[in-house]
Amino acid sequence: MRIDISPGGPSWEAAEQLLHVVWPPHVVKTLVWGDVVWGHADRRVLVREGAPSHELVCHVGLFTRSALWNDVQVTIGGIGGVATHPDRRKSGLASAAMCAAMECFASEDKDFAVLFCEPHNYEFYRQLGWRQFEGAVFAEQPQGRVRFDVMAAFVYDLKLAPRGGTIDLRGLPW
Ligand SMILES: CC(C)(COP(=O)(O)OP(=O)(O)OC[C@H]1O[C@@H](n2cnc3c(N)ncnc32)[C@H](O)[C@@H]1OP(=O)(O)O)[C@@H](O)C(=O)NCCC(=O)NCCS
Repeated sequence: MRIDISPGGPSWEAAEQLLHVVWPPHVVKTLVWGDVVWGHADRRVLVREGAPSHELVCHVGLFTRSALWNDVQVTIGGIGGVATHPDRRKSGLASAAMCAAMECFASEDKDFAVLFCEPHNYEFYRQLGWRQFEGAVFAEQPQGRVRFDVMAAFVYDLKLAPRGGTIDLRGLPW
């Protein structure tokens, strides 16, 4: 297994292929978040296996956002697009990629990290130390600033440990 953190733009082509296998467009349309307009990842954790082709088997998108928590400016590390190839699940790949992501955010002095997920993934993230955020999240969408509640928000404590109040992402969600 090889884990790299790469700039988001140049690695999009490789990521897109995996993300289309995990979330085919016809499936996305049926999901609660199918209509959401998402931000583009600044960076990506890419997990590759199997020399010499080093096939991409797991992806975690990383975001950095100057945001607000209870009207105080904070720097959030965002996590989105967590996906493992269907043939390679339950062998620790996403857990390893998430650990690399959190080490990266911790080394960069982020205040805390945020992700959004559906109920079937709550336990997976809880096992990795994430906690559900009980407050309200706001984000930008094409129609303007909206309360973003299509999925639950989870936080990972770094310098701060937010559990409630209001997080304003001040931009597109991830
Ligand atoms: C959620 C997802 C990313 C997890 O990826 P993964 O690489 O299988 O994750 P891991 O192997 O690190 O851990 C998954 C589970 O396998 C277990 N596991 C990890 N290593 C294992 C091993 N060697 N043997 C058996 N089980 C193992 C973990 O404990 C975890 O348990 P859980 O199902 O109770 O949570 C993957 O299922 C996926 O791509 N799902 C579809 C897309 C999606 O929903 N993404 C999340 C968006 S928020």
